[in-house]
Amino acid sequence: MKVEITRDPKLSKIDHLFALVTEKPRKDDAYPDVVRSAIDSSGFDGRAEETITVLGDAPRKITLIGTGKPDAVTLRGLRQGLFTAAKIAKKHRNANIAVVAPFDNISARVIADYLAAADYKYDAYITVKKEEKRIPISATLITPHDAKQAKQIETEARAIADGIRTVRDLGNGPGNLVTPTRLAQRAEEVAKDVGVKCTVYDKKAIEKMKMGGLLAVNRGSHEEPRFVVLEYAPRRAKQHVALVGKGITFDSGGISIKPADRMEEMKFDMCGAAAVIGTIEAAAKLALPVRVTGIFASTENLPGGGAYKPGDIITMMSGKTVEIVNTDAEGRMILGDALHYASNLKPDHLIDYATLTGACVVALASEASGLFSNNDELARKLIECGERTGDRVWRLPEWDDYKELIRSEWADMKNSGGRWGGAITAALFLKEFVDCPSWAHLDIAGTAYAEHETPREPRGATGAGVRVTIEFLESLSR
Ligand code: BES
Ligand code: MN
Ligand code: ZN
Repeated sequence: MKVEITRDPKLSKIDHLFALVTEKPRKDDAYPDVVRSAIDSSGFDGRAEETITVLGDAPRKITLIGTGKPDAVTLRGLRQGLFTAAKIAKKHRNANIAVVAPFDNISARVIADYLAAADYKYDAYITVKKEEKRIPISATLITPHDAKQAKQIETEARAIADGIRTVRDLGNGPGNLVTPTRLAQRAEEVAKDVGVKCTVYDKKAIEKMKMGGLLAVNRGSHEEPRFVVLEYAPRRAKQHVALVGKGITFDSGGISIKPADRMEEMKFDMCGAAAVIGTIEAAAKLALPVRVTGIFASTENLPGGGAYKPGDIITMMSGKTVEIVNTDAEGRMILGDALHYASNLKPDHLIDYATLTGACVVALASEASGLFSNNDELARKLIECGERTGDRVWRLPEWDDYKELIRSEWADMKNSGGRWGGAITAALFLKEFVDCPSWAHLDIAGTAYAEHETPREPRGATGAGVRVTIEFLESLSR
């Protein structure tokens, strides 16, 4: 929804006012009078997940949404509250809503950007009768900022929300339509829109660059692969950050085929690439004074007649050789080449995003992305940025001791170390192709999409990785 920020809203123009309310003690002076009297007259106590709607004059409806104990108001509670507000607003068919969420520990920009995303639904392919069409919602976020600050926060939140929307639309798009070719086209469109350079390499160009990993995975598919480089290079940039994404537009597992149950979710296996596109979009719209190069490799992973097979030995772009033991460990094959390419650019920091392993989902579920890094300072910063934005990351080790598990008798390494420590061995595989002292790998397998609706978000792509990265890029420019 479209979000505006103001200190003094015109409540007569609002259909429905939503107030996120904590259990006592709270600073009641942060709420408009109408909310305070609604709290008093209803006796609403702000317990988490409770809501009450009361009728008034202006606005006609006021809904109080409980978020629990004030010292425990987390981003989870905030997101839950905003998602609830959006759901109620849709049900009531409200066109103009106002929201007040006075939590000092969460920045207004974060609140605004989650609010902008709160009514998101991927309905591009739902055919509905005209009269049932959704009405767009305009939301006024009430904060204590003056007009100038409000405008600034508003613009920033919109830039981030736009990037997140791009990621979600691409992630939710079906595999037959969001092919590698289409993904690259979208990158070009976004790049054009925000004034960023975009280079698309087709199969021939990829062959010329000897990207053996990407080509091996592509062999089982009729769709051509793509390798894409987006360059946001503002003049006053001091630092250069390269972002690398996994763009598997559908992962069947290949010859090591996945079980049929929930295989449809593997259309989300390009969320890393989408996160790279969305982050570049947001960074450019924010005019961040940091040079950012976005890179992604894209292909389907299918078991066609020409498909790569267990036992095959593949020579990667870097020259290192890989024994294939499981064709379902395809993400690392395409990322190995992309990371090698990115390392050649000698960026100050290199961060990759990938729905890489089921093992990471087992370890962290959907609360945090797995973080692996060869640099404690970078890891610390990313954890902090994740904490501030609710786009959480949590570190797992990338000690060389685990390398034993991917040692091969026939080649430089195997492409899978099996189930034990699966997220770690995947990260160690990637590390073999990284030549950058400040590298981080984000395994977003559990965070990039919600497999069912939760109190926080709808089913589908979430935009994981964008918020934490934007926050990090900003920290570099301070
Ligand atoms: N795309 C999957 C990882 C994945 C699994 C993402 C579940 C989201 C949810 C990846 O390509 C994969 O298949 N990984 C294998 C690796 C294994 C064969 C070493 C896995 O995690 O099982
Ligand atoms: Mn796979
Ligand atoms: Zn995959």
